[in-house]
Amino acid sequence: MQRLDVTQRVWKRILAVKSGTAPRATEKWTQGEAQSLALYGALAEPQDAPMVFAQIGQSLDGRIATETGDAQDVSGEDGLAHLHRLRALADAVVIGVKTALHDDPQLTVRLADGHSPARVVIDPDGRLPNTAQLLHDPSVRRIVIQAVEKERPKGVETITLPRSDWICPKVIIATLADHGFKRILIEGGGITIAQFLEADLLDRLHISVAPLLIGSGPQSLTTSPVGTLAAARRPQTQAYNLGSDVLFDCLLSAQTSSIAHSKQAALDA
Ligand SMILES: NC(=O)c1ccc[n+]([C@@H]2O[C@H](COP(=O)([O-])OP(=O)(O)OC[C@H]3O[C@@H](n4cnc5c(N)ncnc54)[C@H](OP(=O)(O)O)[C@@H]3O)[C@@H](O)[C@H]2O)c1
Repeated sequence: MQRLDVTQRVWKRILAVKSGTAPRATEKWTQGEAQSLALYGALAEPQDAPMVFAQIGQSLDGRIATETGDAQDVSGEDGLAHLHRLRALADAVVIGVKTALHDDPQLTVRLADGHSPARVVIDPDGRLPNTAQLLHDPSVRRIVIQAVEKERPKGVETITLPRSDWICPKVIIATLADHGFKRILIEGGGITIAQFLEADLLDRLHISVAPLLIGSGPQSLTTSPVGTLAAARRPQTQAYNLGSDVLFDCLLSAQTSSIAHSKQAALDA
C-alpha cells in the first residue's frame, strides 16, 4: 500500500481538474502524487449527473464517537486533512442533525487549500437550534432540509420535504441537484450515510480507519441485515496509506440506480 503524497503542486492540479482548467494527468508525478491524483482526481473530474460521495472516520472496532458523543479525534491528523480535501472538492456537504447537535461543526475547509462548500443539515423535526454556528456564515449557502415548518435565521434556505419514517434520500439528492449542487459529500454521521448507502445513491464511500479501539459508542454504518455473506455488498475497493490512518476507497457506482431519473421515480412511488 503506497503512502499518499498530496504535494502542493498535485493538489493544485486536482483543484484545476475540478474547475475544468486542466486535465488530470500529463506530467511526471512521483508515485505518491500519482496515487493522490487517482484518489482525488476521480472526484474532481467534470460530471454530467450528480456525484455523491460519503466519508466516515472510524476506529478499528467500527465506532465513530464515544458514548458521550466525543468524535473530535477519532481520525488522526492525516485523516482530518483528507476530510478537508473532500470538502474542498464538494459543492455541498450534508450532515444529519445528530452530528450538528453533538459537534456544532463549522464544515469549512481549513486543512487544505480550496473553497468551503455549501452546508446542508437534514433536520426533519426542526431540532437544530437557530444558534448553531453552521447557520451563521454568510460566505456560503446554508440549507436546512426539514419536514416541518420552522423559521430559520435570515439567509438560511429551507427545503421542506415529506417524510414517512425517513425523508427519501433519492428526493434529497435530486432536490440538491435542482439547487445546483453537482458534487455532494455526505459527511455523517453513520445513520445519515447508511440511508444513502442503503438507497444505492453513493458513487463512492471513503472509510478512514484510525488505530484506536473505542469499545462502545455509535456504530459506523448499519444497514438492513443480510442473511448470507453472499448477499453482502462487496464494492471494488482500493486502500491508501494516509499516514495516521488507512483509507478504504469503495467504488459503488456500478450498483447505483440512475440518479438522473430518481426524483421523478421517487415522487411517483
Ligand atoms: N467519525 C466521524 O467520521 C463522524 C462523522 C460525523 C459524525 N460523527 C459523530 O457521530 C455521532 C452522530 O452520528 P449518528 O449516526 O448518531 O447521527 P447523524 O447521522 O449525525 O444524524 C442522524 C439524524 O439525522 C436525521 N436524518 C438523517 N438522514 C435522514 C433522512 N433521510 N430522513 C430523515 N431524517 C434524517 C435524523 O434526525 P432525527 O433524529 O431528528 O429524526 C437522524 O436520526 C455524533 O457523536 C458525531 O460526533 C462522527
